[in-house]
Amino acid sequence: MRILVTGAHGQLGLALQQVAPQYKSMEWHFHGREDLDLLDGEMVDRMVRFLQPDIIINTAAYTAVDKAEEEEQEAYALNRDAVVYLARAAQQTGAQILHISTDYVYDNGQTTPYQETDQVKPGGVYARSKHAGEVALLDADPGHVIIRTSWLYGPVRHNFLQTMLRLGADRAQIDVVFDQAGTPTCTTDLAECIGQILKQMDLDPGVREAFRGVYNFSNEGVCSWYDFAVAIMRFSQLPCRVRPIRSAAFPTPARRPSFSVMDKSKIKDQFGLKIAHWRDALERCIGGMEKR
Ligand SMILES: NC(=O)c1ccc[n+]([C@@H]2O[C@H](COP(=O)([O-])OP(=O)(O)OC[C@H]3O[C@@H](n4cnc5c(N)ncnc54)[C@H](OP(=O)(O)O)[C@@H]3O)[C@@H](O)[C@H]2O)c1
Repeated sequence: MRILVTGAHGQLGLALQQVAPQYKSMEWHFHGREDLDLLDGEMVDRMVRFLQPDIIINTAAYTAVDKAEEEEQEAYALNRDAVVYLARAAQQTGAQILHISTDYVYDNGQTTPYQETDQVKPGGVYARSKHAGEVALLDADPGHVIIRTSWLYGPVRHNFLQTMLRLGADRAQIDVVFDQAGTPTCTTDLAECIGQILKQMDLDPGVREAFRGVYNFSNEGVCSWYDFAVAIMRFSQLPCRVRPIRSAAFPTPARRPSFSVMDKSKIKDQFGLKIAHWRDALERCIGGMEKR
């Protein structure tokens, strides 16, 4: 099975590069913006036609949630229009798309874990542009798996873990919001989940059609950003004190959902996945970074 991964140098793209060698029967092609600029429809078309991948994994995205409020066009160009280019090219060559989306599309005010069938109500520009990407993919329907994930962090690139490690090393005390609940997702765990899905597609190409649809994936458990920050300080043995504050005391240009916990039953049942608790995944991630 030949796999094309976009956004190769993003945090998920890099995690996929780490897990790829485990899947020896698959031929992986990783491409970053420098040789696969998703804003260039012709380039997308040429690359997909040249490689003839079975699966395109789209990890590339406009992910600057706050900046998106001022850069609506840029956010939509990558999060929606580029998905259209990929879907069109996939349709022409018979590829399927595994696309990554976000928990932020839900945000409908409910306080029980979101299921894939729940109503979406994306709030800010980033969330709306990601939802528009999902809709574009569903409309074009080249054969797709959409994974909605949340609070993605990993050992490299810009993410909450890296920010906390930097602040924790510099400051004696920081304030972090405790009134937004969700679940962190370690990039390695999401990359391994994708690997498992691909493995099942590889073993039996006939089931690919049956996998079509939207799935939630995060680590297990629930926490606030405050709990997440406290755990980061503890596992990395930083003496920084974390104080819980309300979101109102830390205004941001883009609204964040106060509750974005997702139910992962569908992906676990469909692919037989066992998902680690967010705290265990975090400890493993920080442990791995310290060994390097
Ligand atoms: N981060 C989160 O907390 C979070 C939460 C939920 C869902 N998600 C979703 O998860 C997926 C992966 O996110 P991530 O955190 O891994 O993102 P990321 O680290 O910000 O990486 C995004 C990648 O997209 C690339 N890119 C930007 N413009 C491009 C273009 N024109 N053509 C091709 N590539 C381009 C970037 O290239 P450069 O390396 O050149 O910048 C970067 O490598 C995204 O779909 C995101 O929406 C993320």
